[in-house]
Amino acid sequence: MEIQLWREILAPYTLAVDELVVKFNHIIEEYRQVGAYSPVEQVTGRVKTISSILEKAQKKNIDLNDIEDKIDDIAGIRIICQFVEDIYKVVDIIRQRSDMTIIREQDYIDNKKKSGYRSYHITVYYDVETLKGTRKLQVEIQIRTLAMNFWATIEHSLQYKYKQNMPEHIRQRLTSAAEAILILDREMSVVRDEIMDAQNSFKIKANIVADILTNIQNLYKIANKQEVIKIQDEFFRIYQVGEREELEKFSKELDLIAQRYRAQSLH
Ligand code: GTP
Ligand code: MG
Repeated sequence: MEIQLWREILAPYTLAVDELVVKFNHIIEEYRQVGAYSPVEQVTGRVKTISSILEKAQKKNIDLNDIEDKIDDIAGIRIICQFVEDIYKVVDIIRQRSDMTIIREQDYIDNKKKSGYRSYHITVYYDVETLKGTRKLQVEIQIRTLAMNFWATIEHSLQYKYKQNMPEHIRQRLTSAAEAILILDREMSVVRDEIMDAQNSFKIKANIVADILTNIQNLYKIANKQEVIKIQDEFFRIYQVGEREELEKFSKELDLIAQRYRAQSLH
């Protein structure tokens, strides 16, 4: 096939990859804007090279007229997450989008490959607009953790180096490295739970402080100024110590004081 023809075939795939990288990066941006943790850590994309398409077509006995149908990873997006849990969050995000239709899902995390490879693959249809009209293209999205990506990258380069003849001892090393990666991901999940707990208790504390401040502000309108200043000083003292339990106790006492004043002001 002529190089010009290849360019024509591949151009819409380049557009799809470019658009999707922008869109997934925007998801990171949306999380950042609300100060939340993003399940997507990093996004990359690539269009398969002509030589790699030809190699795959030959290996799988695919007619050159069928490559767009039968090779589902001409456009490839890779999404890297920090934690395994984030992968399923990203899968959910993809499921809910109206600009991609899922054709196939392969969970190589629950069912790792014999090689030790772990990753979540989703093949989607994605529409791009060209001068010739709308084109519905297949795109393969690979979602994996930083650790899984580390393993896959090394294994891929060794595979490339040795082709079909990877020495057995290297194969074994890779298998045990895959085990280590699995354990690493589990350890990181435990850390993640702790981070999330810490974020949660931070939010609870922030809510208590907000309640206290509202109460103090209202008391200024109805209570004796000296007393409110005393309450305020007490709040600053407790706030500096920073114990949640103490803040909670203080907030409840303040509620009672506020109630008493409100009751008084009714008489
Ligand atoms: P093809 O899509 O035709 O390659 O075969 P398949 O559909 O059976 O494979 P799958 O969709 O599971 O995997 C496709 C892509 O996943 C590959 O192009 C690689 O990027 C990646 N992959 C799959 N298995 C391995 C593996 O053992 N090692 C590494 N490094 N990557 C893998
Ligand atoms: Mg595939």
